[in-house]
Amino acid sequence: MCGIVGVLGSHEASPILVEALRRLEYRGYDSAGIATVNEGKLDRRRAVGKLVNLSDRLVHEPLPGKAGIGHTRWATHGEPNEKNAHPHKAGPVAVVHNGIIENFRELRAILAQAGYQPETDTDTETVAMLTQMHLDAGKSPVEAAQATIAQLEGAFALAFLFDGEEDLMIAARKGSPLAIGHGENEMFIGSDAIALAPMTDTLTYLEEGDWAVITRKGAEIFDMENRRVNREARKIRMDAARVDKAGYKHFMAKEIAEQPTVLADALSAYLDGDRIEIPATALDFTKVDRLVLVACGTAYYACLTAKYWFEKLARLPVEVDVASEFRYREPPVLPGTVALFVSQSGETADTLAALRYCRDKADSIVSVVNVETSSIARESDLALPIHAGVEIGVASTKAFTCQLNVLLLLAIKAASERGHMDAADKAALLTQLRALPGLFNATLDRDGTMEAAAQKIAEARDVLFLGRGLMYPIAYEGALKLKEISYIHAEAYASGELKHGPIALIDKTVPVIVMAPHDGLFDKTVSNMQEVMARGGKICLVTDARGAAEAGEGVWQVITLPEVDDRLAPLLYALPAQLLAYHAAVAKGTDVDQPRNLAKSVTVE
Ligand code: F6R
Repeated sequence: MCGIVGVLGSHEASPILVEALRRLEYRGYDSAGIATVNEGKLDRRRAVGKLVNLSDRLVHEPLPGKAGIGHTRWATHGEPNEKNAHPHKAGPVAVVHNGIIENFRELRAILAQAGYQPETDTDTETVAMLTQMHLDAGKSPVEAAQATIAQLEGAFALAFLFDGEEDLMIAARKGSPLAIGHGENEMFIGSDAIALAPMTDTLTYLEEGDWAVITRKGAEIFDMENRRVNREARKIRMDAARVDKAGYKHFMAKEIAEQPTVLADALSAYLDGDRIEIPATALDFTKVDRLVLVACGTAYYACLTAKYWFEKLARLPVEVDVASEFRYREPPVLPGTVALFVSQSGETADTLAALRYCRDKADSIVSVVNVETSSIARESDLALPIHAGVEIGVASTKAFTCQLNVLLLLAIKAASERGHMDAADKAALLTQLRALPGLFNATLDRDGTMEAAAQKIAEARDVLFLGRGLMYPIAYEGALKLKEISYIHAEAYASGELKHGPIALIDKTVPVIVMAPHDGLFDKTVSNMQEVMARGGKICLVTDARGAAEAGEGVWQVITLPEVDDRLAPLLYALPAQLLAYHAAVAKGTDVDQPRNLAKSVTVE
């Protein structure tokens, strides 16, 4: 959700900023812009839409200078036009911002009284204007930025650049992540490590409320009380920051195809024989009375799946909620509760706020994250990495299956520690799990049938997804994937809910995608399919060979997957859910990796 970068370097800043923004474009692509200081003069270039529009503009209107800041925008305040694009400039200061300034109306009133009028519809411009006001009152750039930061409420990662200051950049963080990169007589800032990977592998993460005065020699960091503080500089793994499509047409296709490998890697990171390597000191399931699982979007569907696992396998009661509801409904969190938060980015604002709500209430805070340096990971008692590798496609794919994997391992651990799964059963299930990357490969080999079905689905205006039991959350995930990248209206229902209302939607134009391995609930689902077909509905059944044989006459499309242990089916059936959406989006010609209105890492409410 908006990406910011900055450089104080020894080479021209614009190509460095544009490359860093390219790596951050997954955070927003409504507009992009950069500002530099050259021979003491602050100037900027901005362009609406994707980054390529900015880089094209820079060919004709270059922006020299070795100090610069840049931004890729996901619009919050004000429509995505050039006027509202960052960097925002007010007199001698330029600002880039990720987040929301909640008190910008009050600040605008203060500014108006002092004679400063806004030129844009954004909250960010207020930050630049306040700084200008403080500069006009005689403060130095550092003092002006410090005074401005103290007046801001809300969530922000900010970078300031000043006219006449070629060796000064101010950065600040509250609620939105920001890293400082260290080079050889060069310094950088970036929203995440990926942005800075080509420039440096040594990063210092600012902590909540920190602000920093950065020159080419280094960074002086201050906490929210303006006390000088030391924050550790650490080396990041460069292989984790690779950002290329490796010959695939889209990042999403590459990330879907990576699933056998990343799942195998994740399993070897967590399994030592039949031992699940999660420290018992941090999570002893014999002492846990209930779990609270909280997340957003796809990560929420991973939690919903995990509820079935924890309850059925480990007889552990689970409450599950979307973070935006959980954080405000003031739920009681009783002693004996472990609160578990799932987030690919580890920065989702609602999930982080829900975690903070549970901080002093739950016995312990556990997170399942892809980014180990993220805020959610750092604020947890135990952070469990999913080992999915960098996920660039805005629609989450490999992170989902890797989240499911960690949650399943936790459920198996809970089941065995609580005496509901004996050693032989556990060993047998783990053997099946180790074989799952092979079944992933066999499923990906059947991509042709999914592509053929998706091309027909792409013609529909509305699509329904149905699933029962462990397939119910996967139906939801399938509907979310389809709507977010193909823009086809899609809804999911528990199969048994259909006749309580949604069946009114059924006619021959509405494909109904049924996720149903041949498990103990299959016959029930077949009855629901018959109810749909009896009303002219078109069924696309995703099942296994036994299911395909028993589905009966009249099914419109059948996608046959390898047989899999019922308990592992959610991981395998996630793949056709992703591939159907992917191929439907390709057939419709949408922007698969950067679907409209979306951004990865939702750091605002
Ligand atoms: C959908 C998708 C989103 C995210 C959600 C949570 O494909 O990617 O629904 O799952 O925004 O993001 P994280 O997991 O980063 O907290």
